[in-house]
Amino acid sequence: MKKSSVLGAISPAEFLKKYWQKKPLLIRQAVPGMQALLSREALFALAAREDVESRLITNFRRQWKMAQGPLQTLPSSSQKNWTLLVQGANLHDDAVDQLMHQFRFLPDARLDDLMISYATDQGGVGAHFDSYDVFLLQAHGQRRWRIGAQKDLSLKPDMPLKILREFIPQQEFVLEPGDMLYLPPHYAHEGVAIGECMTYSIGFRAPSWQELGEAFLNFMADSVALPGRYSDPELGPSAQPAKIGDSMISSVSRELNKLSSTPEDIAIFLGEYLSEPKASVIFDYPEKPMTAARFQAAALKRGLRLTRKSRLLYRNKYIFMNGESFQPGSSDKRLLQQLGDQRALAADRVAACSSDLNESLYQWYCDGWLELA
Ligand code: SIN
Ligand code: CO
Repeated sequence: MKKSSVLGAISPAEFLKKYWQKKPLLIRQAVPGMQALLSREALFALAAREDVESRLITNFRRQWKMAQGPLQTLPSSSQKNWTLLVQGANLHDDAVDQLMHQFRFLPDARLDDLMISYATDQGGVGAHFDSYDVFLLQAHGQRRWRIGAQKDLSLKPDMPLKILREFIPQQEFVLEPGDMLYLPPHYAHEGVAIGECMTYSIGFRAPSWQELGEAFLNFMADSVALPGRYSDPELGPSAQPAKIGDSMISSVSRELNKLSSTPEDIAIFLGEYLSEPKASVIFDYPEKPMTAARFQAAALKRGLRLTRKSRLLYRNKYIFMNGESFQPGSSDKRLLQQLGDQRALAADRVAACSSDLNESLYQWYCDGWLELA
């Protein structure tokens, strides 16, 4: 496997074996020369947008408060003790998106988003734990992290955000720009800004079984096929008319037991579910799209790439894109798998696409799913 630069001297294989989902890892200068990719002003502008998830967390006079975005006004940067969190920054900026791609030694099905936090001196979100793995990359200024492997994860009651009732830190690190701390799920931590700082959190996706189960039943509901209707030609007279009889239960259970799923159903469900963009995502489609002929001529010269907001996954004969599944022929399938892995398709690969696929590519361009490279 290709050695990933963000892990410093450690290979992805070693990281996965020793640390992933197991224990924290501090990597000094994971990104040498790291500088914030978005200015404070650009971040504040994102937080004001309707299609961006943001939160403002303040701890003024020792009182935690949280406000959900969009946030038109923020406290002054000279005021201490506040934090702005901007979720999914990778969806809105190419450089941030590229940075997140350095974490693709982990599968796209697990990568969630890159959140940027901006904090003024002493700012933070309190001592807490997350349910997901996270890489905390220091982008600007310094932050002091204290972390602990405590088992008691009970929270303070009546708080606007998750704050541990009791935090028992075991290790402490001050992160400089370019330093990165990996934490597995449920590891207690608290980050406090030393002066103004920005931290980039690369977060992961781990749906709960409950969430997956509910979504799977919804998915299966669309494909239920149980022909026929309940009937009871052998019915006898009812002495207790309000009672549901045994024969009704057994004939209904016989039918409902016919509902089952195949591994293929599960693959299609998972591909559609995991490639579905978040509810807040709005694709930026071209206002005046070029004609299909011009688009194709340009794609043959320049090649294509997925837009930042597009999610493409694949499995066996299926391609999943932004919540939809496709079953292309085997040559097109290979090209689309390449588009997924590389998030781009070189001009000579575009030339190899069938006319069916070319039609789809044009439609996806009109929908803002892909663009000319
Ligand atoms: C932050 O960057 O302020 C919070 C990130 C975290 O603790 O998960
Ligand atoms: Co956290």
